[in-house]
Amino acid sequence: MRSHYCGQIDAALIDREIALCGWVDTRRDHGGVVFLDLRDHTGIVQVVVEPDNAAAYAALSGASYEWCLRVTGTVRRRIAANERIATGAFEVLAARVEVLNAARDLPFALHEPTNEETRLAQRHLDLRRPEMQHALRTRTRLVQALRRWLDARGFQDIETPILTKATPEGARDFLVPARMHAGEFYALPQSPQLFKQLLMIAGFDRYYQIARCFRDEALRADRQLEFTQLDMEFAFVDERVVQDTVEAMIREVFREIGGIGLADPFPRMTWQEAMTRYGSDKPDLRIAMELTDIASLVRRSEFKVFSEWAGAADGRVIALRAPGGAALSRKVIDDCTAHVAKFGAKGLAWMKIEDAGKGREGIASPIAKFLDDAALAAIVRSTGAQSGDALFFGAGPFRTASEFMGALRLKLGQHLGLVENAWRPLWVTDFPMFERDVDENRYVALHHPFTAPKVDDVAALRANPAQAVSRGYDMVLNGNEIGGGSIRIHRADMQRAVFDLLGITAEEAEAKFGFLLRALGHGAPPHGGIAFGIDRLAALLAGVESIREVIAFPKTTGARCLLTGAPSPVPDAQLAEVHIAVRAK
Ligand code: AMO
Ligand code: AMP
Repeated sequence: MRSHYCGQIDAALIDREIALCGWVDTRRDHGGVVFLDLRDHTGIVQVVVEPDNAAAYAALSGASYEWCLRVTGTVRRRIAANERIATGAFEVLAARVEVLNAARDLPFALHEPTNEETRLAQRHLDLRRPEMQHALRTRTRLVQALRRWLDARGFQDIETPILTKATPEGARDFLVPARMHAGEFYALPQSPQLFKQLLMIAGFDRYYQIARCFRDEALRADRQLEFTQLDMEFAFVDERVVQDTVEAMIREVFREIGGIGLADPFPRMTWQEAMTRYGSDKPDLRIAMELTDIASLVRRSEFKVFSEWAGAADGRVIALRAPGGAALSRKVIDDCTAHVAKFGAKGLAWMKIEDAGKGREGIASPIAKFLDDAALAAIVRSTGAQSGDALFFGAGPFRTASEFMGALRLKLGQHLGLVENAWRPLWVTDFPMFERDVDENRYVALHHPFTAPKVDDVAALRANPAQAVSRGYDMVLNGNEIGGGSIRIHRADMQRAVFDLLGITAEEAEAKFGFLLRALGHGAPPHGGIAFGIDRLAALLAGVESIREVIAFPKTTGARCLLTGAPSPVPDAQLAEVHIAVRAK
């Protein structure tokens, strides 16, 4: 149907007869002459239809935005070039125009900002927009580059099941009723974790897969119910081999796809250090602000909140210096207080340092009256606060206080324009093996239950599980967790002990993971790996805020597909076939 693409028109085609297909991006009528911008996946070119070309002119009557056309004509130089488009120096003088299809009742104008609901409900139109075409092409190029890199290094691409058994990654499972086995269910994989471990036990040595994962969890800008991982596993390795290999891969791919140079090597930080300095296990290093511990300065203060948490075994009292923050309005401070409350803060104390030279007189703060001169001076000194800054304070249990002050750090960093325009990757390592679930009074795995502890000895692990450090690691870029992995447990006795510490009984372990325990006992090699979030990598490379912008057909944060209407009720007959009765709400 066509000889060229719209975006390919150049000087070599002048006076040539060509055929193009595409959509009407814009139409302008000027003194009888029709100017069309015709658009396809490669770009836009101007088409001119002169009034003496009666047939073409008639064909265009009524043709407007998003009509689908075939145009044949001759390429010529434009009188006044349009610098803003790649083909702007040329145009096509139409000889013939065919309407391939009309476009009526468009729900939105592609050129105008439109709310996301409308865009998602008519995604086929939204995806025509050059921004979306670019975002999805970036994603394609990313996956191609990753595959090329891995294929060249002997990683074997192996598919693993979608209808499977639960693979715990900390979310709920999506269940699929088994028609042929009444009352039984498949689970969709939260990740290929156990299968990739079995592949190492099976001797495949190095595996990868671009794998769809399914997790029934609360959705956010960086989370979908189904998402894509680059999943990898290596046999006979330690963490350094895995990390060095994938770090080189990410560096190369970012250079190739984005022209982005990432640090070599990536900095590394333990989980403890990341929480202490940045209040996050995925610190955004583009923001220079750091948390300061002030417990030792306020232990004897009259301000109960501070003195109590300063004295508590697992307590923390933190100050955060906001450069230039003395100018923050009451409303911004209230917004910050509301923001940290979402992360468990019971309050947010603050001080404005109006004049650092004047001691107490130079400080405006609702809590200054509870602190003596020495404490005030020590706080200012230890945080490095200058005239014109603000200090914010958080007190609470280590985890909670760290996290809400970490959230504040991000918010203030953005608000104050302190986010450096840079790419700041890092490794976060040495995660705690377990986390205490206070509601259920038991341990839960911080990564997944197959992550090896640093101590190689079951008795040593059992002796002090709360202090155990795991061999897990995350790759973080600009505050996004882009990948996570670990060295795995490869001995059945250690795996049984970890299940036991997680409150999984021996019977339960056998029922859920018996196949893994047996396989570990069949000469399982030491192994480890990692999985990257392809959606998150693509979003970073495409420069968009949400992974929904790099997924062709995403779900809303309300877990719906607005285009197809999924999820939707199914007829009783279909439910009966799969032995399901829906409970009344
Ligand atoms: P993890 O759960 O950390 O590890 O997932 C790996 C990476 O996948 C991405 N990711 C997501 N992306 C979009 N939506 C989601 N709901 C979502 N959840 C996770 C993140 C994350 O870093 N089996 C282990 C990997 C391993 O140990 O090798 C796993 O799945 O970028
Ligand atoms: P209150 O005495 O509870 O009115 O608190 C006095 C100030 O301390 C207010 O600005 C509160 O927001 C703040 N505050 C209360 N609890 C905390 C906390 N856990 N961490 C930091 N500031 C707090």
